[in-house]
Amino acid sequence: MRRALRLFSFFLAASCFGADLTGNWVVEKHRGDGTVDRSYFNLKQEASRITGTIRVTQFFYTISDGSGTPEHFTLIGSMKDGNSERHITYEGRLAGDQLHLATRRGPDSPLTELTARRAPSGEGAMPSRLPLPALHRVPDNGLAKTPPMGWNSWNNFKNKVSDEVVRQIADAMVSSGMRDAGYSYINIDDTWEGQRDAKGNITSNQKFPSMKALADYVHSRSLKLGIYSSPGPNTCAGYEGSYGHEEQDARTFAAWGIDYLKYDWCGARNLYTDEEMQAVYQKMGDALSASGRPVVYSLCQYGRNDVWKWGAQVGGNLWRSTGDIRDSWDSMTRIGFAQSDLAPWAQPGHWNDPDMLEVGNGGMTETEYKTHLSLWSLLAAPLLAGNDLRHMDPAIHDILTNQDVIAIDQDKLGQQARRVWQSGEQEIWVRDLDGGAKAVGLFNRSAKDSDISVNWAKLGIYTHSQQLRLRDLWTHRDFTSSTAIYSTTIPGHSVVLLRVQR
Ligand code: GLA
Repeated sequence: MRRALRLFSFFLAASCFGADLTGNWVVEKHRGDGTVDRSYFNLKQEASRITGTIRVTQFFYTISDGSGTPEHFTLIGSMKDGNSERHITYEGRLAGDQLHLATRRGPDSPLTELTARRAPSGEGAMPSRLPLPALHRVPDNGLAKTPPMGWNSWNNFKNKVSDEVVRQIADAMVSSGMRDAGYSYINIDDTWEGQRDAKGNITSNQKFPSMKALADYVHSRSLKLGIYSSPGPNTCAGYEGSYGHEEQDARTFAAWGIDYLKYDWCGARNLYTDEEMQAVYQKMGDALSASGRPVVYSLCQYGRNDVWKWGAQVGGNLWRSTGDIRDSWDSMTRIGFAQSDLAPWAQPGHWNDPDMLEVGNGGMTETEYKTHLSLWSLLAAPLLAGNDLRHMDPAIHDILTNQDVIAIDQDKLGQQARRVWQSGEQEIWVRDLDGGAKAVGLFNRSAKDSDISVNWAKLGIYTHSQQLRLRDLWTHRDFTSSTAIYSTTIPGHSVVLLRVQR
């Protein structure tokens, strides 16, 4: 009887689960630059339970909840990412020898439909952790004595960056006067990467026929070229990272003539804990140092694990202090006004990086962009324009090239501003400048006009009331003040940025 029952349930299972999901499945997407984006679903089906892993772009999930039949199943992938958890959900069905899958990037995103085919077992497996070096101090490269200035492709172009775009941006940098205003680095962000050749050398994809020739072009315009990689097997956009090829990639970048590397945590999150970041970043710091070429080293790990405490030790010239900026007043102010406590860590050669500029990308008003640049300059932040320099409104051009404001950012004392006063949505930030002057920013974060008064002595800006020489860095007006208090009306979302001197 028991035997008959077992046989019955076997046939029941076989008819429901006629074919099995067990196996390695791959989704391939041709990106149009000669590279292929591959996502892997390594599944094991036991009755209605599905276990396994999902590898997609930079992420590697373990299936924490998988169930259903080949006709309709659900997979929930989970992964630990620093102190948080990430999840992804797929609905799927098996049709012949293909898996049809559907997912949403976010709860409100449109449905993305994918088709997977069987892949050889083992293909796409996540590589293992690399041994981590003992910690030591990477020699200081002596670069970035003032915050780096330049341009980066990500904010505006994302994966649409190409050799042609970079050359045109370099030309525009010169013809617009931005180079003469101090912007010198042209930085290619993610999506330039191709495959590795037989010797493991990284190549550029079809959008970049020759990095060496591109570097020569950029250098011929007295500009410098920057590039991007990750310590993980994959970059954030899922391209090839420098995992296991750190020294080799540093040598390749040097041979191409690269002057700046942004090194983005991305796929490394699947292999290492946040506490191990320092050793991982040190490895590339050493590799750049050994390459013999002066390369600005930009750490991008979203401000995790108090990077400001160890960024300089791994040879970092700048380190991201936050997650990604977006082109909105909310994002820009949330990031910018949260930087006060990091002031002690900024110094010549080593800077906090609240992310690239959004000035000119269209999501904020001109007033808001002035506030953006004012705040970033007070913060001694890297000034990496992120807009399309080929098509710049005169107003945006004038904001980005304001020499009075840039001089604050580039002040050689390298002191980052702090918030010295706040009342509701009004804030005053102050930065010491070389030669004893101060930069003072009066910010009105509210949407309505607002009066702000500075009591010089009370804020410790100057100890006793004396005649002060002031310059308004947006109107370029010089004036004096011999009263203890300076008051002014500031429109919504605006700033009065002053250089104050006794
Ligand atoms: C991360 C970084 C961004 C950008 C993208 C590229 O999100 O923080 O600045 O480099 O990756 O994929």
